[in-house]
Amino acid sequence: METAFDYARYDRIRPIRWTGATLELLDQRRLPFEQEYLVCTSSDEVAAAIHALAVRGAPAIGISAAWGVVLAANEVEAGNGADAVRQLEPAMQRLNAARPTAVNLAWALARMRAAISVAGGDWREVMLHQAQAIAEEDLAANRHMGRLGAGLIAPGSGILTHCNTGSLATAGFGTALGVIRAGVVEGRINKVFADETRPWMQGARLTVWELQQDGIDATLIADAAAAHLMKTGAVQWVIVGADRICANGDTANKIGTYQLAIAARHHGVKFMVVAPSSTVDMDMASGEAIEIEERDQAEMHGIGSVRTVAEGITAWNPVFDVTPAGLIDAIVTEKGIVERPDSARMQALFGP
Ligand code: MRU
Repeated sequence: METAFDYARYDRIRPIRWTGATLELLDQRRLPFEQEYLVCTSSDEVAAAIHALAVRGAPAIGISAAWGVVLAANEVEAGNGADAVRQLEPAMQRLNAARPTAVNLAWALARMRAAISVAGGDWREVMLHQAQAIAEEDLAANRHMGRLGAGLIAPGSGILTHCNTGSLATAGFGTALGVIRAGVVEGRINKVFADETRPWMQGARLTVWELQQDGIDATLIADAAAAHLMKTGAVQWVIVGADRICANGDTANKIGTYQLAIAARHHGVKFMVVAPSSTVDMDMASGEAIEIEERDQAEMHGIGSVRTVAEGITAWNPVFDVTPAGLIDAIVTEKGIVERPDSARMQALFGP
């Protein structure tokens, strides 16, 4: 049974706001020093915001894309849902192309497409209801996963997390960060470490700031300090989110996750992946097939607007990697937990 949890204290930030006419996105490029909402009035502005990381995190980009479809519908004149979908398709394709790795983007668009296409003259209401439902279900999933994941953690544990998986990356509460919030409140987690998460610095700019809003202490470490931290015995779990979980449990997440999983296994530290079922892609057999986004090398040439690298240097900037299922101790979803994931265990929870 869900006992009262103080969400007002432990979940204060909302990165996505639908006003009824526009989509407002908390511009994550400007955090932590400026809290400015970017106002999107068209689906192409939403696609551009997703591509530029004004909004980021797998569930958050799926939810934003759903609202992007609603904005695209302003340009549509259709008497039924099937006709509306035909007209919306080009805008949906452009939204889908904004980022390739997180399956939540394609998942949300497919869900919008499916709902609208079977609607009649009421397709606009059906579309609005569907976008709202995608957001509401994500928040509910995160709250549920928080409790489920925290239940795996022994009281008094230290944890390490990577990237940002919190309210900023979701409809609210977060995936891995939701487990951390619940674990701290329940007294299971007594120490939180967060990786900087180069090159975009999601950990340094977003995660430790987000936890600070809740009054949860988090210690920032350089990504390069993670294995050494594990060797000291200070952490018992690495807890991360996911951008795509394949049918065999292989998991794409922010670049650097894979090396954390290798180091964790070496040091006897457990490794937990937390993601809603919208991140599970049972149509993709293994991580081999996942498209890994490569972003502009300019993201590697400095931090913010400060250049740190000499002119003329070439950089390689893959922004996700794949952790093989064999290095994962538990995948936590709102549908349940898959321990030591493999194809059979994934199929048991997510199969038809
Ligand atoms: O490039 P980003 O910032 O969108 O990458 C985000 C991540 O990799 C997160 O860990 C993942 O999306 C899970 S967010 C709940």
